[in-house]
Amino acid sequence: MATDSWDHIFLFFHMVGIGLILSLPISAHMIKGAMANPKFPIRAKARIAVFLTNMDEIAKIGALVLIATGIGLMWTRGIPVSRLWGGDWKLGVVLLLFALIVINGNLFAGRAIRQGRQVLEQAAATGERPTPEMLEKVQKARQFISITGAPQIGILAVTVLVAAFAASP
Ligand code: HEM
Repeated sequence: MATDSWDHIFLFFHMVGIGLILSLPISAHMIKGAMANPKFPIRAKARIAVFLTNMDEIAKIGALVLIATGIGLMWTRGIPVSRLWGGDWKLGVVLLLFALIVINGNLFAGRAIRQGRQVLEQAAATGERPTPEMLEKVQKARQFISITGAPQIGILAVTVLVAAFAASP
């Protein structure tokens, strides 16, 4: 197959990768209100937490797709690694930001989501009324998720912007 065809295929799946990685912050944002509302049943929150953990898995697949197709695009467009700190420095910035997302995601944000899910499931298992200690734990987990998730969303937004300017005309 011609390099040009490969270029189209890699570009298409690069965009799919962006969609997959964005699905986590978008769905998290959509259900934020329900998670923060103290009147929302804890059992339903635990179900939502399971859903968010699944979205986290999908975002991870998105990151892998981005790396694989990104390397493919570097091949089809003849961009050597050395140009990342030369003419293609904007792409170099994209990779740097991407590395930050992966590192914070693995060390903190992903762990916060999984821990939050565990705490919610424990609270949901205590019966109709979770104890005040449990509710405090849930509150702490929510804080941990928003503190570690904020940089993820911020860096991702900047990465998408820089990447849009980094592409060759
Ligand atoms: C969150 C991470 C990423 C986002 C949001 C992103 C987004 C984008 C966007 C919007 C384009 C423009 C496509 C076009 O108009 O031609 C692009 C191109 C490209 N991306 Fe990514 N990308 C990401 C990660 C990566 C990674 C990890 C790699 C490499 C391993 C990579 C390599 C490339 C290459 C080589 C191009 C073509 C650049 C050019 O034509 O000059 N990207 N990316």
